[in-house]
Amino acid sequence: MTIPVGILGLGTFLPDKRLTNADLEKMVETTDEWIISRTGIRERRLAGKGVPTSELAVEAARRALKDAGLTPADIGLIIVATISPDMIFPATACIVQYKLGAECPAYDISAACSGFPFAMSAAHSYVASGMYERVLVIGAEVLSAFIDWTDRSTCVLFGDGAGAAIIAPAENGRLIIDTQLGSSGKHADLLKLPAGGSAMRASEETVRERLHFLKMDGKEIFKLAVRYMGDAVLKLLKTHNLNLDDIRLLIPHQANLRIISAVADRVGMPMERVFVNVDKYGNMSSAASIVALAEAAQCGKIKSGDYVVLVAFGAGLTWSASLIKW
Ligand code: UT7
Repeated sequence: MTIPVGILGLGTFLPDKRLTNADLEKMVETTDEWIISRTGIRERRLAGKGVPTSELAVEAARRALKDAGLTPADIGLIIVATISPDMIFPATACIVQYKLGAECPAYDISAACSGFPFAMSAAHSYVASGMYERVLVIGAEVLSAFIDWTDRSTCVLFGDGAGAAIIAPAENGRLIIDTQLGSSGKHADLLKLPAGGSAMRASEETVRERLHFLKMDGKEIFKLAVRYMGDAVLKLLKTHNLNLDDIRLLIPHQANLRIISAVADRVGMPMERVFVNVDKYGNMSSAASIVALAEAAQCGKIKSGDYVVLVAFGAGLTWSASLIKW
């Protein structure tokens, strides 16, 4: 027997510091007009210098626990989705566990912008099988630490932030029905942080050549994002015998407003029923989906009984589509 699984609590943490397009105009050769017309991004948040991802993760987790009326002792497992961990190892989730004062097992998932849904899917399985009762799932990033602030083609796109959810036996709706996952390693080169791993060891040369920063083939990623996210939504709906009219809100990965509109177009969803907050935060990778879901719920865009589709896409490549009944 599988246990119906839901979202018991949600929390977000966005650092106070805002980096506007006007600020970026002073740093690289760009304009507010270019950034808005090509990406829809107006500002993004930045963690303070030296503030690690675990700090943002812990704040979001505390808020999700409060929202669910739980304490760290009630959590059976912590999963942190991130591509900007405090260190390559140990897992940021272990650092979060200690800072929260929890004593449960903890590990990280690296699935880039699909990180939160991948982690939620794992949590779903644990709870459905009865292996763990309550799982704290966090998507958190301090991407500003891995951005080349001299590269205008990437530095305008990303931001820092965190979101958390408590996944547990469903109590009052917010039912996670399904998460379908996909990956394509043949496209791994399109979006990566080349140096510092075992494939390209850190050296003076890698530092000099700025290979410890994120590199992206933006054009190719753009095309694949639209295709994979669009197809993932259609496949999810087909699996569950639903059509777009049944879906109250589509929450796509928040990377670029043009990608979001193209996905909406591809599946035939009117933009009034598509959630957008990329203008405020830029692309927060693993944190994007959970922050968007929490904000959509908070501002009343989804109500009890509504079907919501979360669709994500990122480096790996990875992609996912989740069906949630609020
Ligand atoms: O979640 C997955 C993670 N990433 C993404 O989803 C991002 C996917 N890609 C994109 O969002 C878009 O490809 C970008 C926003 C990165 C770029 O938009 P684009 O329409 O594909 O522009 P482009 O790369 O073709 O660049 C057009 C021009 C180039 O100049 P030339 O060669 O035409 O003279 C760039 O050098 O725009 C130039 N450019 C800029 N100009 C002003 C690139 N970045 C900037 C900038 N400001 N920040």
